[in-house]
Amino acid sequence: QTPQVLRVLICDEMNPGNLDHDGFQIDYEGNMDRAETLRRLPDYDALITRSRTKVDRELIDAAGPKLKVIGRGGVGVDNIDLDYASLRGLLVLNAPESNNVSAAELAVMHLMSAARGLTRSDRKTRAGEWDRKFLGLELKDRTLGIVGLGRIGSMVADRAQGLRMNVVAYDPYVPDSKFERLGVTRAATLDELLGAVDFLTVHTPLTDETTGMVGARELALMKPDSIVVNAARGGIIEEQALVDALHSGHLFGAGVDVFVDEPPTADHIFLRAPNLGITAHLGANTREAQERVGAEIVARVLAALHGDVSKGA
Ligand code: MLT
Repeated sequence: QTPQVLRVLICDEMNPGNLDHDGFQIDYEGNMDRAETLRRLPDYDALITRSRTKVDRELIDAAGPKLKVIGRGGVGVDNIDLDYASLRGLLVLNAPESNNVSAAELAVMHLMSAARGLTRSDRKTRAGEWDRKFLGLELKDRTLGIVGLGRIGSMVADRAQGLRMNVVAYDPYVPDSKFERLGVTRAATLDELLGAVDFLTVHTPLTDETTGMVGARELALMKPDSIVVNAARGGIIEEQALVDALHSGHLFGAGVDVFVDEPPTADHIFLRAPNLGITAHLGANTREAQERVGAEIVARVLAALHGDVSKGA
């Protein structure tokens, strides 16, 4: 009997590393068109995506009985309908650690960029305006507030301490011992955190609890001239509220790597907001992170498929 070859489809852009694994056929298609993914999915035992592909009911239904595993090349699984995947008996795996350093570094980059008006100065200089009047802010001795002291939030804390910032965090799911180990002050509530900090960065997954958790009321609690960064997920900080606080001058600046709807439309409200630095969901986009993410998610998915096969499923 010829051994069964298990087929894996990678439909989003990533660095999948070595595709040559005994007993598997791994097809890497990068930016695969959705219609094409829907059409070809029934042939596969596993699908690997990044955040671009929405793994919703339509896609899961298109898969058919062969599909057993969905791998997410990255941390957040908010692009996957987890309830429906579990109803259909699909195993969902992610790569929870491989891109943490890159995500943390991007958040710190946005903090520094907003503090020094980097994107504003870049735009003005390109437009022929030599504006040296802009006065930025130093990070040293200022207080950074972190919402979510998980893997990425902890790395941001460590890097901010290296910049001589004081760090306060709000995370009801993390024990005091972790705060103590990291030298981070605990805020008992989000409101307490917001009132105490000069900079704010969010590092939580997108859930019902975190969607819109920083809105107009919360931004108003922050000190005037604060800086806000969202390099986690679009919608954790309400987009309209953020733009309003920048236009009113309440915030000094902000940085965002993520949008509620990606890619954003050409008339998105962020695009005309003052001192708002924008990147295109690039938190995980470094050579190092993508090498690790690709290797981690492929290894996890293949191991899961092996497990499945050995159990005779
Ligand atoms: C993540 O959740 O790890 C990132 O969104 C990864 C990505 O860019 O796909």
